[in-house]
This record gives sequence, structure tokens and C-alpha cells, in this order.
Amino acid sequence: MINNINMDKLFLEAQNIAKMAYAPYSKFRVGAALLCDDGTIITGVNVENRSFGLTTCAERNAVSAAISMGKRQFLALAVSTPDSEDPVGPCGACRQVLSEFMGPDIPVRFAGSNQNQVNTTVGTLYPLDSLHELRHTSVLY
Ligand code: THU
Repeated sequence: MINNINMDKLFLEAQNIAKMAYAPYSKFRVGAALLCDDGTIITGVNVENRSFGLTTCAERNAVSAAISMGKRQFLALAVSTPDSEDPVGPCGACRQVLSEFMGPDIPVRFAGSNQNQVNTTVGTLYPLDSLHELRHTSVLY
């Protein structure tokens, strides 16, 4: 538990949802689980496309799903990459998008199929965010 957040449970959700990934081209499945401030967990997977550049990452799909469900306050993120042994963290584009909705202290866990886990924060993954002052905190828009 980190500040009463059950990162083990959140990671299990990411691990389970990774099985739903659509990744026939890379064969690299990714599952993401976002803990919302109301206690719900919203998940996402990577969705690839034969036009490779249209692929969308698990983390951003989880954020999009959550926002579409009216959830904007997040407490933690877990990412599972079962097709790598070692942990693989969110890509650069995802780090930018995560930083739109999560402050620097939000805990992030990611891991592959072995026992190694990375436990970090949004601020560590995306430091020196030069546009952080533009980040919106309004719940109205
Ligand atoms: N991928 C993610 O879903 N999240 C990341 O942060 C890294 C990359 C996906 C995209 C693509 O479907 C596959 O992993 C290989 O890059």
C-alpha cells in the first residue's frame, strides 16, 4: 500500500486487461489501469492498426476511457507489459498525456513478466514540464 493505495490490486487489473490488447503487429501487449478518486479502476489496452502510426497506447486509451466516463481525478496508474520480461514504462507521448491529468506525486507502477517492478511517479517520468502552468484543473470543461 502507498498512502492507502493498493498498487498490487491496481497492477493485477493492468495485468488482466493486457490480455485484451489488440497487438497483432508488434505482438507486444500492454494493459493500463487507472485508479480514480472515487475508487473505481478504469483500464485500457494498446490498439494497433495496419497503418502502424495509428496505433494507440494502453495508457492513453485508459485516460480517454476515464475522461469519457466523466472521471478526471486519478490517484495512481499501473502498466503491465506481459510480453517483456523486464518493466517497460510509458512512452514519451503517454507521459505528456498523463501529466495533463495527474500531478507529479501520483504513483506509477510498471512491470513485465518477471519479478522486477518499477515504482515511480508521474513527476519522475515527466520532469521539468515546461508547460505545467498551463495545465487545467477545472472540472467544468
Ligand atoms: N505501447 C503502449 O501501449 N504503451 C507504451 O507506453 C509503449 C508502447 C504499445 C504500442 C504498440 O502497440 C506496442 O506497445 C509496441 O510499441
